[in-house]
Amino acid sequence: MILKIVKYPEAVLSQPGEPVTEFNAELRKLVADMFETTYASQGVGLAAPQVGASKRVTVIDLSMGKEPKDKLVLVNPEIVFQEGKQYEEEGCLSFPDIREKVARAAKVRIRAQDERGKWFEKAADELLSRCLQHEIDHLDGMLFIFRMSALKRNLNLRKIRKMQSEGKW
Ligand code: NI
Repeated sequence: MILKIVKYPEAVLSQPGEPVTEFNAELRKLVADMFETTYASQGVGLAAPQVGASKRVTVIDLSMGKEPKDKLVLVNPEIVFQEGKQYEEEGCLSFPDIREKVARAAKVRIRAQDERGKWFEKAADELLSRCLQHEIDHLDGMLFIFRMSALKRNLNLRKIRKMQSEGKW
């Protein structure tokens, strides 16, 4: 089922997600729906708060549905190690048409549970590293617009207000 993606400044996007304690059919349905929603939106990642569920769940697939082995489900994820810096363009499905360079760690190692509750670790660099940091930020109520410089943030907030006033947001 394709879920509705909420847009900034919907309150749920700024709230930290609740840790997941039950690894049941409801969770697996949420994960399946989140993948379907990501693909339908041509995205590479989606966090549960973006579909109105304030839970620490995110899905990532850099292949956009082409490589089953690229599907990543992260439940209760945390960054356990990071190093270096990268500064590349990002977008977010809750900010349609906004793309901006954001400073991130170059490499990360994360720890998370899969949809059955099993813990695993994963190391990543480049785009996957950026994507992991962006999605884990969502679970802490942190949005990429607040990782931009004040100048870029204000320009983009103005752009959003203009789109809102024109009924395009
Ligand atoms: Ni996002």
